[in-house]
Amino acid sequence: MKWISVALGLALAAPSQAYLRFGCATLSVQRLDPLVEPGKVPSAHVHQIVGGNAFNATMDPKIDIGNKATCTTCSFTEDLSNYWTAVMYFKARNGSYHRVPQYPNALLGNLVGGMTVYYLQQDFNTNKQKVTSFKPGFRMTVGSPTSTKDGNPGLRYTCLQDVMTRFPETADFPKSPCPAGIMAIHHFPACWDGKNLDSPNHQDHMYSTGKGGFVAAGACPSSHPVRMPQVALETMWNTTMFNDKSLWPADGSQPFVWSYDDSKGYGTHADYVFGWKGDALQRTMDSTPLLSNGLKTQSVAEANKCNVKSSVNEPIDGCELMGLFLCCDNSRRNMN
Ligand SMILES: *[C@@H]1O[C@H](CO)[C@@H](O)[C@H](O)[C@H]1NC(C)=O
Ligand SMILES: *[C@@H]1O[C@H](CO)[C@@H](O)[C@H](O)[C@H]1NC(C)=O
Ligand SMILES: *[C@@H]1O[C@H](CO)[C@@H](O)[C@H](O)[C@H]1NC(C)=O
Repeated sequence: MKWISVALGLALAAPSQAYLRFGCATLSVQRLDPLVEPGKVPSAHVHQIVGGNAFNATMDPKIDIGNKATCTTCSFTEDLSNYWTAVMYFKARNGSYHRVPQYPNALLGNLVGGMTVYYLQQDFNTNKQKVTSFKPGFRMTVGSPTSTKDGNPGLRYTCLQDVMTRFPETADFPKSPCPAGIMAIHHFPACWDGKNLDSPNHQDHMYSTGKGGFVAAGACPSSHPVRMPQVALETMWNTTMFNDKSLWPADGSQPFVWSYDDSKGYGTHADYVFGWKGDALQRTMDSTPLLSNGLKTQSVAEANKCNVKSSVNEPIDGCELMGLFLCCDNSRRNMN
């Protein structure tokens, strides 16, 4: 239970800190996207998912996953939400793809893979304003796999010199080998229109006034007046086994791609489906310090035990492996 006392210890040491930070282990890695492509098995590209075990292909917004899920990979047991991003692959010179393993935040214990999740009030230190919890059925995305340029200061990469590196951040994939891997950072928008739990593009009901990093966000606009927790994700990708430059493309470009074959990285995106139990998140956001309301925690072993089996019968670790990417067929052709 050492990791919990570490996490709580940090929060208690600085009571003005207005954020929750916790680890969630990997729940599943598979080609499903219940938010953007509900019911489609398989979806267009591979995702890595953390959180509650009510995750499946459909996830009807009328079903409250906070009531439905029976376990979570997150350290706070009342958080049965789901969070997911694309998966990173190394693209070899011969065109084959190799899935990059994930590793957990060094501060949060020996979780299997997964992500670090943040719920911030406005930044790391401001907790004076009213923050309204998401409601059952709420969902949103940030970023878009079709983006080809930097459009959002909340979507960033850090080239990890060691497991604790946090700066500088870049909008695209690091261009040189990173000694401890690559961290992908996703800040979701935090201003809500006050009406819609979702919108056709999963983004219009929300508005971002974030300025990147964990600095104070601007005021919410009148179109989206309700301040919600600012959800952020950090994913650590262990690229170190691919750091030998002789494996990199001959033109010196970097070899990592997202599972929709984006080698620049501007298409980085993430998905969120709210699923906290009852009013646990609201109670937490209302209390100072945030953890004084006694959220329930579980051990690393328990978090690691929660899993969802893939509904898609296919290999995901590389791309001899039909269908993962459009370019899969090309790489097969090259090999034949
Ligand atoms: C997903 O879960 C919901 C609620 O548990 C269930 O009604 C539905 O049948 C499931 N869908 C699939 C494709 O498993
Ligand atoms: C392609 O290159 C990768 C990495 O160098 C290697 O692991 C793999 O076996 C190669 N595949 C073929 C079909 O040559
Ligand atoms: C990354 O992978 C390398 C090679 O497999 C391993 O030695 C190292 O411990 C991993 N790093 C972390 C932080 O898990």
